[in-house]
Amino acid sequence: AIFTAMASILEKGDEVIYPNPGFPTYETVAGFFGCVLKPVPLLEENSFSFNMKIFRKLFSKRTKMIILNSPSNPTGGVMPQKDLLEIAEAVKNSDCWVMTDEMYSSTLYDNLKYPSFYAFKKIHDKTILVDGFSKTFSMTGWRIGYLSVPERIIDKIDYLLTHLVGCTATFTQYAVLEGLNGPQDSIHKMVREFEKRRNFIVSEMNKIKGVRCQNPQGAFYIFPNIKSFAKSSKWLADYILEKAGVALLDGTSFGKFGEGYLRISYATSMENIAEGIRKMKKALVLL
Ligand SMILES: Cc1ncc(COP(=O)(O)O)c(C=O)c1O
Repeated sequence: AIFTAMASILEKGDEVIYPNPGFPTYETVAGFFGCVLKPVPLLEENSFSFNMKIFRKLFSKRTKMIILNSPSNPTGGVMPQKDLLEIAEAVKNSDCWVMTDEMYSSTLYDNLKYPSFYAFKKIHDKTILVDGFSKTFSMTGWRIGYLSVPERIIDKIDYLLTHLVGCTATFTQYAVLEGLNGPQDSIHKMVREFEKRRNFIVSEMNKIKGVRCQNPQGAFYIFPNIKSFAKSSKWLADYILEKAGVALLDGTSFGKFGEGYLRISYATSMENIAEGIRKMKKALVLL
């Protein structure tokens, strides 16, 4: 869905604004089409939301697409409504598109009501919604994504999907139907369980000497600050894998502004999380 949306709009030389650290596909695909990359840093001091000061500087008549992802992979940060509104106002009178990747919209904590960019119906003629079912219905092995686009680009999307995908496997479509038509309380239960895990992992990570970890409001990732170890994120991620047997990602896998951070997924049992933290603590204390 992301590739198709970007391929239907972008051409060589177009400017693309996107979050960094962010889901790597945005930067890779924009680079593949020869676009001018305009990353907006997601900074810890800004609760890992889009830095609006930098956005204001980067946004211009040359901007062809703004990519938003809230809640964010890898930081779990959620963009506040006022920032979304400012972006909607900025694009209203421009030729710029917004692709809003709302993959984690169902995974929100602290009773937060979801601030969706797709709620701005007045600019639907230049907004593309990207979403999918692999997170909400926990079917990552049977992943199936979708887009909602304005009519004026339907033909291009249809053309691209026909030749890229052909057709989506029928059994995964039936699985999604079951998910959509079935009781929704299991999603609520899953998210409450994620919230308990988030509370636990954030509090335990903050007990590790040298680690500082924010409390993200969405998705199922934490993005702890590990700058005090004076090692690159990549080095530390490899060290933790080899020494502790815990697989996690370095922040730079999500772009250059991810340096100094690790991304840890807590989409696993409470027992596994506790064991992983115990092993990480043992390895980190040796540094
Ligand atoms: C922000 C974001 N968008 C899109 C995707 C793609 O999801 P999938 O391949 O599971 O459909 C992911 C997967 O990790 C993601 O984190």
